[in-house]
Amino acid sequence: MSHEIAVLPGDGIGREVTPAAVDVLDALDVEFGFADCEAGDAVAEEQGTPLPEETVETVREADATLFGAVGETAADVILPLRDVVGSYANVRPARAYPGVDALQPETDLVFVRENTEGVYSGIENEIAPGVTTLTRVVTDDASRRIAEFAFDYAEERGSDVTVAHKSNVMRVTDGQYLESVRAVGDERGEEYDEALMDALAMHLVLRPEEYDVVCCPNLAGDVLSDLAAGLVGGLGLLPSANVGDDNALFEPVHGSAPDIAGQGVANPAAAILSAAMLLEWLGEDEAGEQVRTAVEGVLSDGPRTPDLGGDASTDDVTEAVVDRL
Ligand code: NAI
Ligand code: MG
Repeated sequence: MSHEIAVLPGDGIGREVTPAAVDVLDALDVEFGFADCEAGDAVAEEQGTPLPEETVETVREADATLFGAVGETAADVILPLRDVVGSYANVRPARAYPGVDALQPETDLVFVRENTEGVYSGIENEIAPGVTTLTRVVTDDASRRIAEFAFDYAEERGSDVTVAHKSNVMRVTDGQYLESVRAVGDERGEEYDEALMDALAMHLVLRPEEYDVVCCPNLAGDVLSDLAAGLVGGLGLLPSANVGDDNALFEPVHGSAPDIAGQGVANPAAAILSAAMLLEWLGEDEAGEQVRTAVEGVLSDGPRTPDLGGDASTDDVTEAVVDRL
């Protein structure tokens, strides 16, 4: 059976690292059909919208989507697309790799980020000149759903769960989140830790090895996972999955990186590792593991792109990964 994949490179280095991930998928003993589509700043200039209806349809119809990155229109593209695939969980593994200079070489974390609400609900207003407000939405349904997902994910991985929150200040909204997560934890008989997200940020920097799966509200997951990127050697290494019940979108955590775009030196590891997550989500576990092992080998032995202290190009690294498959 062939897997139909929507391929959406987007802008900047998205256009360099997404083809790298497709090359890797192409080299596997798995059948794919690829449907190319466009979104982002460049399309917005041409067509007046950063997210053409054709792209939405392609993503909706596909078995899964491989996304690169977009530029200034990120919020107008990625937020609606997460909705199109019905994604409620954003999974962001951050781990240090042998051979890569990392601030914290023992880091092996997975952030499970609530992907639909919190402060990213898009309800912002200017109620008077110079006076703005934001509505933070937290529901029992979404909080229970992310808790179930995090506990399931941790169970599969044999890891512990830490629940990040700030319910001492956001008493109603994070109070709701925590109450819902606790209810799920009780129903399932789970043991887990709770942590205030600001103190957790410090602990993650000092002792990341003490944490496994971190279940987070939307904004906290966004910030803490980028912080973890800093612990393991940079954004060029972090893949992510936006998972729904029957569709999903996979993307590197990084953006379009205008400072290095067009130079052919972007690190394709995050995009290729996102493709490995896509394989696992499709049930192609063996191929996923094969890709991950190949990337680990290349990170350990080189070639490496400049962000990791090397002088190799995106293509050099991609070829080295493909050679190892
Ligand atoms: P960024 O992730 O694009 O870049 C941050 C820094 O990390 C830059 O110095 C960049 O060169 C470096 N970097 C990122 N990925 C790399 C890779 N694969 N290899 C080597 N170096 C890498 O974040 P920034 O600069 O905050 O945003 C740039 C643009 O990207 C903005 O327009 C923003 O809106 C957009 N963006 C889009 C996202 C998405 O499409 N999901 C996510 C984050 C930002
Ligand atoms: Mg981010």
